[in-house]
Amino acid sequence: MSEVMIRKIALVTGGGSGIGEATAKALAAAGASVAVADLNVAGADRVVAEILSLGGIAKSYKLDVCDDGAVATVISAIEKDFGGLHIAVNNAGIGGDQAPTGEQTPAGWRKVMAVNLDGVFYCMRHEIEVMKKYGSGSIVNMASILGAVAFANSSAYVAAKHGVLGLTQSAAIEYATQGIRVNAVGPGFISTPLLDALPSDALAGIAAMHPMNRLGTSEEVAALVLFLASDEASFITGGYYPVDGGYLAR
Ligand code: NAI
Repeated sequence: MSEVMIRKIALVTGGGSGIGEATAKALAAAGASVAVADLNVAGADRVVAEILSLGGIAKSYKLDVCDDGAVATVISAIEKDFGGLHIAVNNAGIGGDQAPTGEQTPAGWRKVMAVNLDGVFYCMRHEIEVMKKYGSGSIVNMASILGAVAFANSSAYVAAKHGVLGLTQSAAIEYATQGIRVNAVGPGFISTPLLDALPSDALAGIAAMHPMNRLGTSEEVAALVLFLASDEASFITGGYYPVDGGYLAR
């Protein structure tokens, strides 16, 4: 994959940690100029510093994906700073409260929807506007295995990730003839700070739900994102690709 991304300009939301961090680094290592956007700007700054220290090109942006106006501002800043936008990885996400559906609060539900579904929509609508101007683009949305199946006590997260699949497929068919590809990735449980909210004694049981009997790594997800984002995936759009150690095959 080395340098397949030269002259590509990429945005990664939630790029300051976990899967987004690994994806930003993989894109930069492949030659892309990477806009690392995160609510946690210290995380984004750290990732950018690491990319720069390895000779890559990156810049950090503070962004709350729940704020459509802020998304518009950041995407136009990226266009101005780098001269366009070819790749967008809509990855920012939160886990949310763990409770059965009847005990979920409206506020907890809204928070997860705001980040994990509204945020993806806001990013896509502004990314697509820029990509249309240049006649090409590749969007990769970070769904989850929980975009395809349920998981107890996580109904807002599960519903939001199923929504990301619908959004991905809708945009994919709308823009297929305009050079914009849109795909979704479905990681199994991946060892990142997102899992810190789960009880530590639950992690071994969760690992065992994957036929490979382990959690995945952020780098394993980033490798798939890199392929889907690249021109090597030129006939791939509207797809949902698990990277899950066999979880969905059980
Ligand atoms: P993480 O917690 O390590 O990273 C998430 C990043 O998103 C953080 O840097 C955080 O500051 C940022 N973020 C949160 N809310 C934001 C907002 N409103 N605006 C901008 N940035 C915001 O989590 P991880 O695991 O890397 O998750 C990344 C994505 O992968 C999420 O969409 C998550 O749902 C998805 N995913 C994670 C899995 C896992 O097991 N870790 C499994 C399947 C999907």
